[in-house]
Amino acid sequence: MNVVASSPEGLERLLAKEVSDFGGKQIKILKRSVSFKCDLATFYRLHFCSKIAFRFYREVSRFQCSDKNSLYKGIQSSFDWISWLPTNKSFCVRVTGKNLFLRHTHFTALQVKNAIVDLQKKYLGSRSDISIKNPHLIIHLHINNKEAILSLQSTVESLHKRGYRPLMADAPLKENLAAGLIQITKWEGKTPLIDIMCGSGTLLIEALAQYLKIPNLTKKNYLFENWIDFKKDIFLTEKLKLINNDLGDLKISKVIGCESDIDIFEQAKKNISLAGLEKYIELHNMDFANLRINEKPGTIICNPPYGRRIGDEKELINLYSQLGDFLKQNCSGWTFWLLSGNPKLTKFLKMKASQKIPINNGGIDCRWIKYLIN
Ligand SMILES: C[S@@+](CC[C@H](N)C(=O)[O-])C[C@H]1O[C@@H](n2cnc3c(N)ncnc32)[C@H](O)[C@@H]1O
Repeated sequence: MNVVASSPEGLERLLAKEVSDFGGKQIKILKRSVSFKCDLATFYRLHFCSKIAFRFYREVSRFQCSDKNSLYKGIQSSFDWISWLPTNKSFCVRVTGKNLFLRHTHFTALQVKNAIVDLQKKYLGSRSDISIKNPHLIIHLHINNKEAILSLQSTVESLHKRGYRPLMADAPLKENLAAGLIQITKWEGKTPLIDIMCGSGTLLIEALAQYLKIPNLTKKNYLFENWIDFKKDIFLTEKLKLINNDLGDLKISKVIGCESDIDIFEQAKKNISLAGLEKYIELHNMDFANLRINEKPGTIICNPPYGRRIGDEKELINLYSQLGDFLKQNCSGWTFWLLSGNPKLTKFLKMKASQKIPINNGGIDCRWIKYLIN
């Protein structure tokens, strides 16, 4: 199978490594995605194990397409719709990209829909309905100049929604972005980990989920179960391997979260418990300035407020200065990682960065910055 996995911007290399670790071949790194080849077992395994991917798209055909007529013909002739889409099952169409004559994705999607239902009516005498919420197939068309790439999307919901976070703080990180940030720190459970402003707990949950090799097994609407080449035995074998994954006597260092806002602290507690990780995380409802650090040096992570509203910045200058002072006074020998969305504020830490990695956090151009605290 030819597959494309979509990725948060800046984490494509990590996603490529994951795909390779779980069995993908001929991997190519693209912008906000990774393409690769794999068999069905690898495809199912990646849905359970990838911590970075948003979605997977299985390519089913490519054809030349310069305008609406060639699109209509290409759609009808390049895929076996009659076998894959029974008329009592629904579908929806998503389009990305454009060319000179197909400039509006909504118009292009309508054209794709018409081509499919016209074919059904001609050969089967009836047609499928359209469903956005609960389709049998999601058909994805990407137009790149004169080429159209037709794929099937494998889940309705994005895989970053792990299911442990119905409750959200104000500015939570997406789960897959948090997982990627943790992978970059190379924290591997053997040294202490502290999130000094933990919000709803996403970074800590993702860190532990990776270390404990907890797969994404919450019930997803896997559309590949509707594909005519779905192999239930392979799917269940892959799932069982993960459920029976024996971690032996795994030791974990202290994992600590600190959050000053009582409501957000309570959300973090609930999310951690929903993720089944409460026995591994020590949570404190306090200002980080009051946190006593008695552990041997490890990793401190932090996704502080950035101050996007006017007036916020002044208040936050204090927070960043205090944070810099606290780290220098109490955390000698620790490694500190900060997600910076505002370089003006980051300056007030008065610390020298040893690495800066560009990351896009929900449209904000951020840096994941590493500091070695003397
Ligand atoms: C951007 S949010 C963190 C979001 C988090 N990464 C998540 O995914 O939910 C920043 C958090 O820092 C907390 N915070 C701000 N000042 C703090 C302080 N002095 N001590 C501890 N927490 C603080 C805020 O209440 C907020 O929840």
